[in-house]
Amino acid sequence: MIIGVPKEIKEAEYRVAMVPSGVRALVEKGHTVLVEKGAGTGSGIQDDEYVDAGARLVQAAAEVYSQAELVVKVKEPLEEEYPLLREGTTLFTFLHLATKKGLARVLLEKKITAIGYETLETEEGLPILKPMSEIAGRISVLLASYFMQKHMGGRGLLVSGVPGVERARVIVIGGGTVGLNAARTAVGLYADVTVLDVDAERLRAVDALFPGRVTTLFSNSYNVEQAVKGADILVGCVHIPGLRTPRIVTEDMVKAMKKGSIIMDVAVDQGGCVETIRATTHSEPVYELHGILHYGVTNIPGAVPRSSTFALANVTLPYIQAIADAGPREAIGKDRALQRGVNTMGGCITHPNVARTLGMEYGPVEMVD
Ligand SMILES: NC(=O)c1ccc[n+]([C@@H]2O[C@H](COP(=O)([O-])OP(=O)(O)OC[C@H]3O[C@@H](n4cnc5c(N)ncnc54)[C@H](O)[C@@H]3O)[C@@H](O)[C@H]2O)c1
Repeated sequence: MIIGVPKEIKEAEYRVAMVPSGVRALVEKGHTVLVEKGAGTGSGIQDDEYVDAGARLVQAAAEVYSQAELVVKVKEPLEEEYPLLREGTTLFTFLHLATKKGLARVLLEKKITAIGYETLETEEGLPILKPMSEIAGRISVLLASYFMQKHMGGRGLLVSGVPGVERARVIVIGGGTVGLNAARTAVGLYADVTVLDVDAERLRAVDALFPGRVTTLFSNSYNVEQAVKGADILVGCVHIPGLRTPRIVTEDMVKAMKKGSIIMDVAVDQGGCVETIRATTHSEPVYELHGILHYGVTNIPGAVPRSSTFALANVTLPYIQAIADAGPREAIGKDRALQRGVNTMGGCITHPNVARTLGMEYGPVEMVD
């Protein structure tokens, strides 16, 4: 199979979807890997490292898309990439289609088999989203503590406090992978940490991991309202695969927060769990509304590409190999996790939650011709 790796073009996105070891593994199995010139530079991987591993270097994205049967990416295709997508091919990347109806239409029109990293789901969870969520969760609290400085627009509060002075209160809504890692970092910075979730087992797991160091609270509108009011740092980590994130922190709750506190809505890539959040970029990551700083970067791990490219490539390669070896249809048929990852196929929306959020018709993968 011909596998293509284009250079990412999203603002400040330095990750790349494949590393040289992945190229070698695929080439050894008889596959061809096309890598766009400069695709790995942002992650510190030079073109000749790909060539040494057996890749064919191509000069432009158009060459990748026009030849590849399987395109592997990091972020969803942007509008300027839509014309490059070729009918009937397979696309393996983060998609977050619940907030991208325009892209969904293009994938349907071009009958692309689009597999979203974020909906690929095993019995244990979301294996491809997980390492990115670990990174985003950890960075979110570090960045928040930076933005808490007065000259950055924050409250001028030291997260750990000092003897005789109170520490910052970190409220984490959603105790999944992002939430757990945000809590871990916040505990490490000696913050006062509370985690809210609707899943009692999750709360039990958080409690067991940080005995006596983290308060756990069931997530309902009353508890969310109380917790948000007292937050210095609010980390939004709610997620329901394929669905637009429910907006559980309302604008009124934001207005009631202390001036200069900060909202890090990591869930913004699926729409965000805070009513007042909008997507931002690494070059302008925060904005102020109602006296509260809002951080809405949708590709947080892109800030540490050297770590996140390798973490991502480790978990995507087995699926890329399976698709390349067996072809997309057979690979999807054999692997329930991969099947759950399929968002569009043969002109149908094949993920029930994505179809529900977009208000479009759902057709199960097994029914697609
Ligand atoms: N901005 C970025 O760069 C970036 C990077 C990585 C992940 N993310 C996003 O972060 C979000 C969280 O990812 P994750 O891997 O932690 O997901 P996850 O599935 O591991 O965890 C989500 C948690 O939310 C909980 N939840 C659901 N409804 C809730 C509610 N009403 N109140 C409180 N909790 C609720 C679930 O029980 C679950 O524990 C996703 O949208 C993901 O795409 C964003």
